[in-house]
Amino acid sequence: MSIEIDILNGDASWPIAKPLLSAVWGQDAAEKPAWSHIKWANADLRVLIETPEDGLVCHVGIYFRTVTWNGQKVHIGGIGGVCTREDQRGRGYATTALEAAVHTIRANEAVRFALLFCEPHNAAFYAARSWLPFNGEVYCEQPEGRIRFTYMAPYVFHIVRAPTLGTIDLCGLPW
Ligand SMILES: CC(C)(COP(=O)(O)OP(=O)(O)OC[C@H]1O[C@@H](n2cnc3c(N)ncnc32)[C@H](O)[C@@H]1OP(=O)(O)O)[C@@H](O)C(=O)NCCC(=O)NCCS
Repeated sequence: MSIEIDILNGDASWPIAKPLLSAVWGQDAAEKPAWSHIKWANADLRVLIETPEDGLVCHVGIYFRTVTWNGQKVHIGGIGGVCTREDQRGRGYATTALEAAVHTIRANEAVRFALLFCEPHNAAFYAARSWLPFNGEVYCEQPEGRIRFTYMAPYVFHIVRAPTLGTIDLCGLPW
């Protein structure tokens, strides 16, 4: 079966991605997660996997940001909104999309490492794909001001380094 992998501008591709993201993280969940009030950044780029039969089956958002790590400015790549249509899971789509996203992040020569946030039940998925837990503190901005981000666990991916300790300030909204 053929699949098409596109990496598109985040804003321009939002209308394509929205139905899948809403289906996976829509408001109809019985119990709202602790992070449901969090205001998230918009993706700069999106990896979209489509098949001729099923259309969009998988999405990964890519973010570029100059953050601070222990007070020093560092340019990083972010990953967020990783999701596969429920009836299409277990076929390697998220793995492929994640690889395409890391490849894209790596192509940006200023990037030192990649960073994502995930819930505990997904940690093993990323650990099996060489993501390392970041054991330091993460801060970010919200409409009410700067907060410590503790809603999900941070994981880092080695590009030219992979810091696992210290303090990261996202200097903007989280992803
Ligand atoms: C997590 C998710 C993106 C995986 O998508 P997928 O396309 O099925 O993933 P792949 O097919 O590439 O990989 C499947 C493999 O990962 C494993 N896997 C899937 N979810 C896992 C989890 N939560 N923890 C550990 N392993 C997991 C599967 O068992 C399978 O293993 P195998 O290859 O040894 O059989 C998908 O389940 C999803 O969309 N979940 C809901 C949204 C979500 O939680 N996204 C993560 C946000 S951080």
